[in-house]
Amino acid sequence: MKMRNIALALVAAGLIAPATGTAAVTRTQIEDLIVQCAACHGADGVARDVEVPNLAGQHDRYLYNQLLNFRSGRRPHKEMRYMSRQLTEEEMDAIADYYSKLPH
Ligand code: HEC
Repeated sequence: MKMRNIALALVAAGLIAPATGTAAVTRTQIEDLIVQCAACHGADGVARDVEVPNLAGQHDRYLYNQLLNFRSGRRPHKEMRYMSRQLTEEEMDAIADYYSKLPH
């Protein structure tokens, strides 16, 4: 399946929920978010598609900054802009922390 189709399928399935508040992000919330990323970046943070970067073991500050850049449009990318727009900064921080700790 092409990446765009995956993103559309996720939206259609209602898996992409709007970001909630600014409260601390729980483990369950992180898992709910990661499921959406796994379609492209792999459940283990290792992408199966050559056009998608691996996230496992990447530096957490780097991942966090990229998510901010995608959201602001400073790093232009259609799918990632869409994905990052759903995220609060607390969620980006939690996601970056999660992927940075995965083995690569
Ligand atoms: C539809 C497929 C798709 C989905 C879903 C997706 N990504 Fe991505 N992601 C990409 C692609 C493709 C790139 C490479 C962007 C580019 O070429 O600049 C990318 C890039 C990134 C990067 C930058 C990595 C780097 O090495 O610079 C991060 C961080 C990232 N994604 C995090 C996420 C997170 C977190 C989610 C879930 C909320 C997610 N992505 C969901 C396709 C996707």
